[in-house]
This record gives sequence, structure tokens and C-alpha cells, in this order.
Amino acid sequence: MIRKGFKFIDLFCGIGGFHQAMTSLGGKCVFASDIDKECQKTYRENYGIEVIGDITKVDAKDIEPFNVLCAGFPCQAFSHAGKQLGFNDQTRGTLFFDVIRIAKHHKPEYMLLENVKNLAMHDNGHTWQVIYDTIQAAGYNVLKDPVIFSPHFIGLPQNRERVFIMCIRKDVGDIPEFAFDVKKNDLPKCSIEDILLDDSEIPNIEKYRINQKQIDLINLWDDLIKGVKCDLPGCPIYGEFLVPSTMEIPGFDDFPAWKKDYATKNVAYYLKHKTFIDGWMKRAEKVEMYQNTRRHLEWQTYRGENESMWNHIMQFRQSGLRVKRPTYFPALVAIVQTSILAMRKRYIVPRECARIQSFPDTFKINPDDHIAYKQFGNSVNVEVVKLFAKYLFGDKKTREKYTKYNN
Ligand SMILES: C[S@@+](CC[C@H](N)C(=O)[O-])C[C@H]1O[C@@H](n2cnc3c(N)ncnc32)[C@H](O)[C@@H]1O
Repeated sequence: MIRKGFKFIDLFCGIGGFHQAMTSLGGKCVFASDIDKECQKTYRENYGIEVIGDITKVDAKDIEPFNVLCAGFPCQAFSHAGKQLGFNDQTRGTLFFDVIRIAKHHKPEYMLLENVKNLAMHDNGHTWQVIYDTIQAAGYNVLKDPVIFSPHFIGLPQNRERVFIMCIRKDVGDIPEFAFDVKKNDLPKCSIEDILLDDSEIPNIEKYRINQKQIDLINLWDDLIKGVKCDLPGCPIYGEFLVPSTMEIPGFDDFPAWKKDYATKNVAYYLKHKTFIDGWMKRAEKVEMYQNTRRHLEWQTYRGENESMWNHIMQFRQSGLRVKRPTYFPALVAIVQTSILAMRKRYIVPRECARIQSFPDTFKINPDDHIAYKQFGNSVNVEVVKLFAKYLFGDKKTREKYTKYNN
């Protein structure tokens, strides 16, 4: 295991997910860089470190020597949400090469990199191949395949699959193959209750409450779920397709195959529950949000006879509601689409986002909620980084638990 007092640098540091993990393992941060002014502010507030801006402008010589390089390099160029330009994205894709430029100059013993899951598949694996070859050529051992890992694999209530890249300088050692078979291992139980605050602990709680129109919409769908005893079609419910025949659906013939399939299933579903749905439709006419296009229900949770909308977490989406199990949160994302805790009739609050990313309760959160949600959405789960750092540094227990030959 690495000696206490090791020095690390935090590239694309955000609000310091890596920083939290490394200092908890005895490390000392000697350099941090992020171009975002708000991240710089939050980082300074929490760690007393002046964050340097644009890394492309930093001369590697100006960074003091260090043992570990950490970098969650920007992911837009590789994520599904981005344009998938990868290395052809001249501004963002190439930031990986700034990481390598600094590594080549300082030759730290270890590097721990993180990125979106899509990096592993991007451009038919070509992007990963370039990353792998470049790290090798810089003098580091790295696993042949990218490791994909999520907090919910270790009982933390967030599904956030990310690629972790562990690199060790060739003269320092090798990395045994990392193994964690999601299907083979019984995943530990997760519950969002583990991180939720009591409402009485939340300042300005009213600000986070859902409003009456949202309550009316949830109640309307709850009425349907209960009325049909949670017998649902094998696809999202589309209110506009709950009609006696596909012939009544405008434009049906021009729909793409998946939409025709949804429409057909919804029609069959309507016919099965016609009496109930006819009455329900009358009630729906009086629900403002339903009338204003929120007519879709994506039920991605249990199918028990006694299910209720109010036991779940959900997201209001452009076209309707997505309902999820109260086991773990969908990945926090930078684009604000904050989850609703239906059982509490409120949104999750920034402190809960901090907990979802395993930041300690002493962490000073940016006072602007929008910025705070975005910062946690961009960040990395602290406990997961810790796990990979321990594996990388050769911690015996972690190596035993996750080495391929022991599984
Ligand atoms: C995915 S986030 C990393 C978050 C971080 N790992 C954390 O725990 O909060 C990527 C970060 O890269 C920063 N960034 C983008 N371009 C940059 C550049 N040229 N120089 C320095 N930082 C940059 C962004 O501002 C963003 O905060």
C-alpha cells in the first residue's frame, strides 16, 4: 500500500471527488485544475486550495513533483448525450492528451482516471484502443479492458456506471485483472433511505416541495395503477394511444416500428381495461398537467398488486413521468432533472446529492441549488474512487476481493 503523505494532483477537479478519496487514504493535494469558476470557488472553500484554470495552458514544469495523478477528464466528447466525436472533438477529446503530457513529464507512480461508460464502446472500441496504447507508450501498465463500475455494486444507492482506468508505472508493478461479475455476485441490498435526510433537518424545505399540480398528476396515475391492480402493458403507457383501435391514432402508419409497437400494445391494454379507463379518462380531463402533454407513464419498478405511485422515486420528464424503485437513484446528471421522492412529496435536496456521491456531511455545498445539483451531477462517487485507489495501490484486502482469479 502507498505510504501516508503521498502527493497527488487533481486534474479536472470539479468539486473534488478524487480529492476526498485521496486525502482519506492519507494523500496531500499539491495541484488542482478546473476551468469552471464555480468549481474553483467550491474547491477553495472546502480544501483551501487555489485551483488553476485551463489545463491546456499549464506548463508541466510548473507543477511540483507528485506520486498520483487523478483525472476525471471531461466526458462530453464520449457520452451518449454529446455528439460522439471522441478524439475528433478538438477541444474536449484532446484533454486526455494533456493528462498524458503531464504524466510524461512527472512520471508519477500511479494514475487513476475516470470517464463515462460509453468511452469503452465509443467508435467500435477504437477510442479505448488509442487510450490504452497511449498510456502504455507513456510507460504505464494498464488493464487490457476498461473496468466499468457503479456505486450500487457496493450497496450505495446510485446506479452510475463509469469507466475506471488504473495505471501503474511499469517499473513499480503490475495490475492484476480486476473482476466484479454483476450477475454472478449477489448485489448488496440498496435503499435510498440510507441517505435521505429527515424533512425536519432541511432548511427551507418548502422550496423543495412538489406543487399541487404535480400532486394532481401523480394522484391521477396512482388512480390508474390501483384501478388495474398494477396490471400494465409491457411498454410505457401513452395516454393518447388509449383508444379502441390504431385506426384512431393520427399518423399511425408513418410511425417507426417501436412506436407502432407501443401504440398497438396500448390499444390492446385499453380494450382489456376499457370500463375502468373510460372513467379514468374523464377524471384525466380535469388534471392540468396531464392535459398539457404529460401523458406518458414509464413504470420501471415493481409490479405488485398493491403498488402505489407514492412509494417510489420519479422524474418529471418532458412528456410524462418515469417511476423508479426506491432502491437506488438513477445517475445524478449535470443536466438538471432532479429526482422526486414521492413518499416525501419533495425533490431531493443538494445535501442528499452530496450523500449520493458519498461526500461527507461536512462538505460545504455551493449555496446556489442549480450550481450545486450540476456540480454533484458532474462529480464522481468518493467511495468508488477509494475502492479503485486501494486496488491500484495494492491494498491486500481490496486486491483479494476483486482480483479475477479469486472470483
Ligand atoms: C466530469 S467533470 C470532473 C468532476 C470531478 N471529478 C469531481 O469529482 O467533481 C470535468 C471537469 O473538467 C473541467 N474542464 C473542462 N475543460 C477543462 C480545461 N481545459 N481545463 C481544466 N478543467 C477543464 C470542467 O469544468 C469539469 O468540472
